Amino acid sequence: MNKSIPSSSLFLSLALIFVCLFSNTVFGQPFFKAHPQINPYHYEVTKEKSFDHAAVSSANALASMVGAAMMQEGGNAFDAAIAVQLSLAVVFPEAGNIGGGGFMLARKANGELIGIDYREAAPSKASRDMYLDEKGNPYPEKSTRGAAASGIPGSIAGMFGTHAYAKLPFAKLIEPAIELAEFGFVLSESEAKGLNTNRNNFTKFSSAASALTKKENWKAGDTLFQPELAQTLKRIQEKGAAGFYEGPTANYIVKEMANSGGIISLEDLKNYKPKFRKPLEFDYKGHHIIGFAPPSSGGILLAQMMKMIAPYDISKLGNNTAAEVSLMVEAQRRAYADRAEHMGDPDYWKVPTKTLISDAYAKQRMSDYQEGVKGSSKITNAGQIHESEQTTHFSVIDNEGNMVAITTTLNDSYGNKTIVAGAGFILNNEMDDFSIKPGVPNMYGAVGGEANSIQAGKRMLSSMTPTLVTLNNKPYLSIGTPGGTTIPNQVYEGLVDMIDLKMSLKQSIDGPRFHHQWIPDTIMLESDFPEATELALKAMGYTTMRRGHFGRMDGVQISADGKRIAAGDKRGDDSVAGY
Ligand code: DON
Repeated sequence: MNKSIPSSSLFLSLALIFVCLFSNTVFGQPFFKAHPQINPYHYEVTKEKSFDHAAVSSANALASMVGAAMMQEGGNAFDAAIAVQLSLAVVFPEAGNIGGGGFMLARKANGELIGIDYREAAPSKASRDMYLDEKGNPYPEKSTRGAAASGIPGSIAGMFGTHAYAKLPFAKLIEPAIELAEFGFVLSESEAKGLNTNRNNFTKFSSAASALTKKENWKAGDTLFQPELAQTLKRIQEKGAAGFYEGPTANYIVKEMANSGGIISLEDLKNYKPKFRKPLEFDYKGHHIIGFAPPSSGGILLAQMMKMIAPYDISKLGNNTAAEVSLMVEAQRRAYADRAEHMGDPDYWKVPTKTLISDAYAKQRMSDYQEGVKGSSKITNAGQIHESEQTTHFSVIDNEGNMVAITTTLNDSYGNKTIVAGAGFILNNEMDDFSIKPGVPNMYGAVGGEANSIQAGKRMLSSMTPTLVTLNNKPYLSIGTPGGTTIPNQVYEGLVDMIDLKMSLKQSIDGPRFHHQWIPDTIMLESDFPEATELALKAMGYTTMRRGHFGRMDGVQISADGKRIAAGDKRGDDSVAGY
């Protein structure tokens, strides 16, 4: 009997092998095959562009293009936002995440406001003094590095919460992220640099090698493949939020905890839920501003500072003059003093929001302000209330006029530097945003007290400030930025630039920033801030300090003729897309 394979079978087998190999690249990438204009191996950054229908501005060109494509295919701003958040987790591992948390602020075209808090929460085993030794001193790095620094991640729950307002199936929105992880994308220079700088930390704080540590020296143009992350995203695609909070992914997270003293349990993961927070609203010079409520301090700080400066004609003071900076800094000093004392998770601490953002309180806080005179953080303490450095921000406005602003973070660049073995994603070090001991500054120099002390289940106070603006009750602007405690000040300065000084969105985004946070009593200045103003501020008695870059602000605005003008910060790879 002839035992050789008949030629027809041989042909069939070869054809089968060919189809399998071919399908891996062609059929394995249904999203990118259907969108040949988005090429993960060759893409360009677009800093500013006007679109007829809808636009996205985010930290990464591929993520922005993915978001725009979802809207072009019939999705709305919520669809785009979900696809952008998930894509950023792959192409911008520095801050884009599934292992962190954030805030989703939206205004639907019909005027409905939505605030979804998907901030990380303290694990059930967390306690007030968990980062202090027996003498009451903070353990070095415990709240910032390794698994012990992680809060329970909220991003995937947050995206499923957001999906209630979207139009397309979640499985479709996560598909581009899966393909970017599985089939790779080309690294930019700054991404390659970030991976190289953090390589030693990744190795030190993770239990196993990972895709991010595969090469010792990443270069711009290298392709990053993340097969474990692709599998994690596929589990979420198949099983929904349970693909992250239960089953293999949850097991991987808990196993990673054991490597460096982490305390997140399977129950903590299973029990995590995003929370709705009623957005804060206030008016400033004809504009209606919508901000995020606690546990973000951003909305309150923005309202406080803008109300404190509202009586003044900023355009007469001039852009970045000592007079303008001094006025705005004195408002910053007063608002940030209140942050340290009064703000925390509202489910655990009674935040006096109504008073803090009232006109009367702003007036009272500025009653000792004297034009041209430096204040003092020794004298300015938190008001008495009686009442009955990497994150990422992206903005989307769609064709219908729905606006979404999301700021999301791992806290530090690459979070706690721990890549979950087997699951391929980085965990946050958000526990450091709690006040680990009254008066002890966190990594952003922010101090706090009881309001923001650690308790099981509590969410740590944030500075993230996703912000929306309407004009004449019509959608106008979606904006925000990363930058730790500088975030509320950056948004405040950006809005003043646009509203008082009539700058374009792009000019206001790129403008040099200043920052005062009560303690230390120092004005931080971005490296390109005008020197003459610094000298004038010093002559007034201010202490100043130069600091590199503060953030990466991204925004989308609707022009008078209905165009979507999108702008990305000059400070990073930020890029816009739309149609
Ligand atoms: O929530 C917060 O306030 C911080 N975890 C944000 C961190 C941040 O913006 C770092 N980026 N540069």
